[in-house]
Amino acid sequence: MKSLYDCLKPGLTKAYKSNGHWAANKWANWERFSKVGYRSDTHGGRFVQNYSNKIGAKAYGKYDATKKMPVGSTLAKPSFTVGADGRAAMGPLFIMEKMTRGWNKATSDWRYAMIMPGGKLFGMTKGKNSAGMKFCQDCHEGAEDNDLMFFMPEEYRR
Ligand code: HEC
Repeated sequence: MKSLYDCLKPGLTKAYKSNGHWAANKWANWERFSKVGYRSDTHGGRFVQNYSNKIGAKAYGKYDATKKMPVGSTLAKPSFTVGADGRAAMGPLFIMEKMTRGWNKATSDWRYAMIMPGGKLFGMTKGKNSAGMKFCQDCHEGAEDNDLMFFMPEEYRR
């Protein structure tokens, strides 16, 4: 049987297509590191999956052993909700992109972004609504031992 996520993925792929961030048009072909969509309390209680582009895949796949991600690593997290009536709805796409060294000390050179279903850019570090992305950093900086990444609970890792 196809999982709910497999059914949703083509819709999400289309819905995130955006001029706002290049990764919104690419993530669907990247390597997925989560086994299934799992509920993330820290991302609005939505179900999420974690992807990395090729540059970041090797390091991301080492999980807690990873201390530093290569420049250009880009992580994407599509999300969806399931209502009490069992109906699924799309949530935003969360993105973290490792920019060049010295790009932004305050975020360890990570650029956070959030794309809404429909392709609208909600915000991007040092770009549109940068202030609205500060809460991403405020939480992620708690993971300073792992270059600000939290990974997913072990049972959901591939
Ligand atoms: C309150 C804490 C918190 C906030 C706020 C938060 N995150 Fe996260 N983020 C996490 C945790 C914990 C994980 C890993 C587990 C999970 O998915 O729940 C994670 C995982 C991620 C990942 C996958 C990389 C990794 O760390 O393994 C991306 C990409 C991401 N978040 C982007 C964002 C963006 C963009 C925002 C802001 C729009 C944001 N996050 C806000 C806690 C947070």
